Amino acid sequence: MSKKILSANFDLPDSHALRVYEETGGYRAIRKILGTPGDEIIEEVKKSGLRGRGGAGFPAGVKWGFVPKDTDQPKYLCVNADEGEPGTFKDRQIMEQNPHMLIEGILICSYAVGIERAYVYVRGEYVFQIQRLAAAIAEAYGSGYLGKNILGSDFNLDVVIHRGAGAYICGEETGLIESLEGKKGQPRAKPPFPAVVGAFGCPTVVNNVETLSSLPFIINEGASAYAAIGTAKSTGTMLFSVSGMVEKPGVYEEAFGVNLVEFIEERAGGVLGGKALKAVIPGGSSAPILTADEARNTVLDYEALAEAGSMLGSGAIIVLSEDVCIVKALQVITRFYSHESCGQCPPCRHGTYWLARIADRIENGRGEPDDIDLLLSICPEMMGRTICVLCDAAAMPTESYVKKFREEFEEHIRLKKCPMDGAPRLLGIE
Ligand SMILES: Cc1cc2nc3c(=O)[nH]c(=O)nc-3n(C[C@H](O)[C@H](O)[C@H](O)COP(=O)(O)O)c2cc1C
Repeated sequence: MSKKILSANFDLPDSHALRVYEETGGYRAIRKILGTPGDEIIEEVKKSGLRGRGGAGFPAGVKWGFVPKDTDQPKYLCVNADEGEPGTFKDRQIMEQNPHMLIEGILICSYAVGIERAYVYVRGEYVFQIQRLAAAIAEAYGSGYLGKNILGSDFNLDVVIHRGAGAYICGEETGLIESLEGKKGQPRAKPPFPAVVGAFGCPTVVNNVETLSSLPFIINEGASAYAAIGTAKSTGTMLFSVSGMVEKPGVYEEAFGVNLVEFIEERAGGVLGGKALKAVIPGGSSAPILTADEARNTVLDYEALAEAGSMLGSGAIIVLSEDVCIVKALQVITRFYSHESCGQCPPCRHGTYWLARIADRIENGRGEPDDIDLLLSICPEMMGRTICVLCDAAAMPTESYVKKFREEFEEHIRLKKCPMDGAPRLLGIE
């Protein structure tokens, strides 16, 4: 059964307007908490079980609890709206259809943690979404929801939009912070984590758009009401971006715990043209691939997907039908990672380059029999050896594609060409 928390307003006329948000109970949550100690709000968010929707699934309230309380430094919130993970297109939906829900989420987090300045780091390509968000921020300032003495209280908050310039690595939280500071978007070694030393050397919360947008519901309805949705450890709902070979690609909100293939069939209309399902990438291009059988036997939540050897990631479900060539899919994603590696760490700089080069030559009929094992030997050398996990994000899927669909790689090398030449490309990445 679909449950709508984040997308409840999406279909209303003018859903982006302040008037519509207020008419549907908007800004009730911030009124409710003003005057309550921030620690109590943090406890409530911990109790809700809300986990970060940007990819790592870290509990939001726990992260906020790491921010030092007794500090003279300002504290910052960086809203991660970079949405760079291939296959992911749900944060744009929130900024487009209900930007005030995000602003209220920003208010709740900032109030709880004691933040007076929030930056929204939005990918530069989201021109329309930035316009929508900027208009909503202006409306919120105009109505006393942002600025000084919010709703007559002593709480102040400014929200600043910062446009990214199209680099995937700037979605990684410390790459984002470096970029926000005007530097090259290269991730920082951790620890220290941003909660302690973040933007401009100050304590900083980094949260995804969807994570923050879940907060008004949690405050309005209570942590237990939120925790009652989904499964014991994956609470609430998630916006799943469904793409690839499906009848109805789109963003669908769902409570955790539904069967992956039933979800694809019931919500996204099933595999395009009634073709057979070959595989599913369940959590964005960084997630290891699941065969059709594995996908049939798993549900959508953090634990089940980890148990299945993959991950929920950013909730981007990419469906591969029998028409899709796995080697071509690997060629496309490795090229992406090679292009997007910031080059700081040698295992990533060289590893992503070689994965892309080898996948490319196998797909183009120039692969050698040893290339399959060569790919498999590179991947372990890349995992866990770099400052950030972009490198793992390239190696993990590569290993899974080769191990699970080895015969397709062998066939390409034997025939010296792609047997499925003309097969559709996935992800729109060339
Ligand atoms: C290479 C890379 C790219 C990332 N891109 C994004 C992104 O576009 N949006 C996002 O919210 N998180 C992204 N993340 C995850 C962030 O580093 C971070 O975990 C997240 O913003 C924390 O917010 P959350 O706890 O609310 O999920 C990326 C991570 C890596 C390693």
